Amino acid sequence: MDAFLVTGPSRLSGSVSISGAKNAALPALTASLLTAEPVLLAGLPRVADIATMTRLLASMGVVHHGDAPSTVTLRAHAISSTEAPYEVVRTMRAAILVLGPLVARFGEGRVSLPGGCAIGVRPVDLHLKALEAMGARIAVEQGYIHAHVSRVGALGGRLSGADIAFPQVTVTGTENVLMAACLARGTTRITNAAVEPEVTDLANLLVSMGASIEGIGTATLVIEGREKLSGTGDRAHRVLPDRIEAGTYLAAAAITGGDVLAKNARGEDLRAFLDALKAAGATVTESVEGVRVSVDGPLAPVDLATAPHPGFPTDLQAQLLALMTRASGTSRISETIFENRFLHVSELVRLGADVRIEGNTAVVTGPSRLQGAPVTASDLRASAALVLAALAAEGETLIRRIYHLDRGYDAMETKLKSLGANVERVNG
Ligand code: UD1
Repeated sequence: MDAFLVTGPSRLSGSVSISGAKNAALPALTASLLTAEPVLLAGLPRVADIATMTRLLASMGVVHHGDAPSTVTLRAHAISSTEAPYEVVRTMRAAILVLGPLVARFGEGRVSLPGGCAIGVRPVDLHLKALEAMGARIAVEQGYIHAHVSRVGALGGRLSGADIAFPQVTVTGTENVLMAACLARGTTRITNAAVEPEVTDLANLLVSMGASIEGIGTATLVIEGREKLSGTGDRAHRVLPDRIEAGTYLAAAAITGGDVLAKNARGEDLRAFLDALKAAGATVTESVEGVRVSVDGPLAPVDLATAPHPGFPTDLQAQLLALMTRASGTSRISETIFENRFLHVSELVRLGADVRIEGNTAVVTGPSRLQGAPVTASDLRASAALVLAALAAEGETLIRRIYHLDRGYDAMETKLKSLGANVERVNG
């Protein structure tokens, strides 16, 4: 099994190109199910989750060809299956994103229940309640969610617009309902919708396919359903740059006392994170080229809590926590989105960090002298935190189970090496 061998400490400097956002590319891929016409997507990151989603769509009969590694044309002209099997959903929960499009266009879909997940329970009840409110019947049979719309005379198997008020912000839930609503009969109004940049990116793609969506970028989305959507035409939709990947490399700059430009990164998508870096003493420069972070001198501790966008992203919590192990003083980092999202803490402690968990808050006292040790990655972003700590640690750190990193980071070791890190992919 692949592992990373990181020899530190190193000081990262230079520039790194940020790939397209995994979390924008996943719903963009499933949006191809909404139309019989070709959907062209560009800027897809080369990560395992995208390959998995592409394979899942292919198993349903979606024809795809890659014009370049990061560009793909998908065509869901005829569908042979409306099922996302357990083997896929087990490795990638985002497979639930096929459900809304399938029910909306074909009147039914079957998706394996996600089951347990390393970072908490993560149910999909809000997706299902919303689809139910739009007229789908939902049954859970043999571990599968089966959603279908019954044919009522001439009306036949179409979802109806509805008022969907999410009691809690859900990113993929908003995306599923948004896609379904584009082909529903009548108007759907989503309130307390997620305003993550990836939701906005999906909405822009849908509009380019002929959807009618008002309120893009706000917490209230009003969708006028259409009988059909078109493809993207000849102009590919380019997915937005990955703010979490960018944040990870900027945190790498900070933890190594370095200076890194994340090319194409958009400061406005990273506001809360960049504010935290500034509060910690980093110099942040935003330009047309991207976002640059440099640190020269000691880091200060910060207190923060994760929150839905535009709050501090939970997907950068582990990386910031790793950074705070090097700050002089005590930081308090609260996780409000997911339970059990401190799996990185025990591994960071093995590298010499001083972190105490109090309920949903990690109390980090630094600066710790980090020292290399063998550690094990547990989920995607926890793995990134271990890489950051390893870059700042003295000696060798062997990070096992980096298949988690390969799910979401495009060519991480190549990018890190180009910034001066000493990292090798080894068998471990
Ligand atoms: C998405 C992101 C993930 C990110 C998360 C929060 C993708 C593919 N993944 O995940 O990287 O960490 O947003 O920013 O975009 N919840 C329910 N019932 C539901 C749905 C959600 O209780 O039906 C809860 C979850 O357990 C969690 C919270 O709502 O506590 C937010 O989850 P949600 O925004 O849905 O996360 P994902 O869309 O799965």
